[in-house]
Amino acid sequence: MIKDLIIKNRSYRSFSPDRKITKEEVLELIDIARMSPSARNLQPLKYRICVSEDDCAKMLSLTKWAGLLRPLVLPPEGHAPAAYIVICSDNELSPEGTNKFLGVDIGIAAQTIMLAATEKGLGGCMLGAFSAEKVAEALEIDKKYIPMLVLALGEPDETAVLENCENGDIKYYRTEDGTHRVPKRKLEDIII
Ligand SMILES: Cc1cc2nc3c(=O)[nH]c(=O)nc-3n(C[C@H](O)[C@H](O)[C@H](O)COP(=O)(O)O)c2cc1C
Repeated sequence: MIKDLIIKNRSYRSFSPDRKITKEEVLELIDIARMSPSARNLQPLKYRICVSEDDCAKMLSLTKWAGLLRPLVLPPEGHAPAAYIVICSDNELSPEGTNKFLGVDIGIAAQTIMLAATEKGLGGCMLGAFSAEKVAEALEIDKKYIPMLVLALGEPDETAVLENCENGDIKYYRTEDGTHRVPKRKLEDIII
């Protein structure tokens, strides 16, 4: 059921070191996202796949994880993602500032990829905390593509669970056993 998949599709920040991800597996996920809706059917997104050790090490160093849990460092040493997808905007198809729905397209594509990954027993984290310039430079991405959102992927080896948000406190946190807990606003609190 789609609901089960969505509940399972949490942001994971620790991954099994034994589960590698191939470029073909990532291509399959992007092929699914390719069929998603896009405003004006413009399809302005391009994808840079990182599966090599070198690319993954660069992406690990250029992304920031779980700011709310500082000083905890995530992913833990030896539990880094096995792959990354850098979702880029093609500046020729969607010049900066001309497409007010660009962010919507990115969100749709990102969630589609994460759900497809979850269905395959993978998981990961959307990452927005990075410098687009630094990522583009490190991965030698052509200047016409602007990194907008990063998806980290792997086989999660941590537990993340949802709970109802009380008193408006939406901060995610970890319990002593390391379980990651994610408060979500209650249904009655989001209907206006
Ligand atoms: C657009 C976007 C950007 C995000 N950027 C980061 C990030 O830079 N680092 C991080 O650790 N998590 C990031 N996250 C993950 C959120 O922290 C996460 O979605 C939130 O805590 C709720 O947890 P859940 O995904 O399990 O529901 C991002 C999520 C989204 C949707």
